[in-house]
Amino acid sequence: MSNHNTTIRIERQTDYVAVERLTFAAFETMELPGRTHTNEHFLAHLLRGDPDFVPELDFVAEQNGEIVGNIIHSKCAVIRPDGTETEALVFGPVSVKPELHRQGVGTMLIEHSLRRARELGYKAVLITGHPDYYRRFGFVPASAYGITTLDGKSFDAFMALELDEGYLGMDGGRWKCCKAFDICENDTAAFRRFHLAFTNKNTSGR
Ligand SMILES: CC(C)(COP(=O)(O)OP(=O)(O)OC[C@H]1O[C@@H](n2cnc3c(N)ncnc32)[C@H](O)[C@@H]1OP(=O)(O)O)[C@@H](O)C(=O)NCCC(=O)NCCS
Repeated sequence: MSNHNTTIRIERQTDYVAVERLTFAAFETMELPGRTHTNEHFLAHLLRGDPDFVPELDFVAEQNGEIVGNIIHSKCAVIRPDGTETEALVFGPVSVKPELHRQGVGTMLIEHSLRRARELGYKAVLITGHPDYYRRFGFVPASAYGITTLDGKSFDAFMALELDEGYLGMDGGRWKCCKAFDICENDTAAFRRFHLAFTNKNTSGR
């Protein structure tokens, strides 16, 4: 897919380092109260090795051969009150090169991947992100479907989109993401090791 000089294609293994750099740069620009460090580049790294990673929905945006954006999807589930699981997708990180923010690259990546997800037969997407940004793609608070986070929380930034109307139903449930998210948040030692290697690679210019 292309628009002006931006092209969207599937990420390749040879893009991984460039995408991790881009992810770090994009998320370093984010100011969130209580946020202590940027770890989304670690999440991108972990996701690609996770069994729930969806390679068909791992896209990069390119301009003149340079990677300027990325979106990664993985499978997640809603654990219903009766213990059954309903499959869904989660996307993130979503990153755009800071110098190119607000020029439509993020919108292109999200619209493209939602279209492909639908074509591939996925039926719902759950995310956490800026409500003002994601509302335009049709996301509504996950609480509209009675869905909370795994630890029972409900907040505006936790959102859902049905790709197949009625799929999420009204039974509610708790959102479970794949292991990569848990490791990213909780394995501080692994994060430090990864980030040190990441910093060394980038300082030596490789
Ligand atoms: C969020 C991000 C992916 C959006 O990509 P982008 O290419 O800059 O966005 P687009 O140009 O497609 O869309 C721009 C619109 O989104 C809005 N927008 C962008 N970032 C926003 C944010 N953090 N909160 C609310 N609105 C936002 C802009 O106001 C603009 O609105 P307008 O069309 O009404 O003017 C990009 O800004 C980014 O990489 N940010 C840092 C990492 C991040 O926050 N990732 C998402 C985590 S949920």
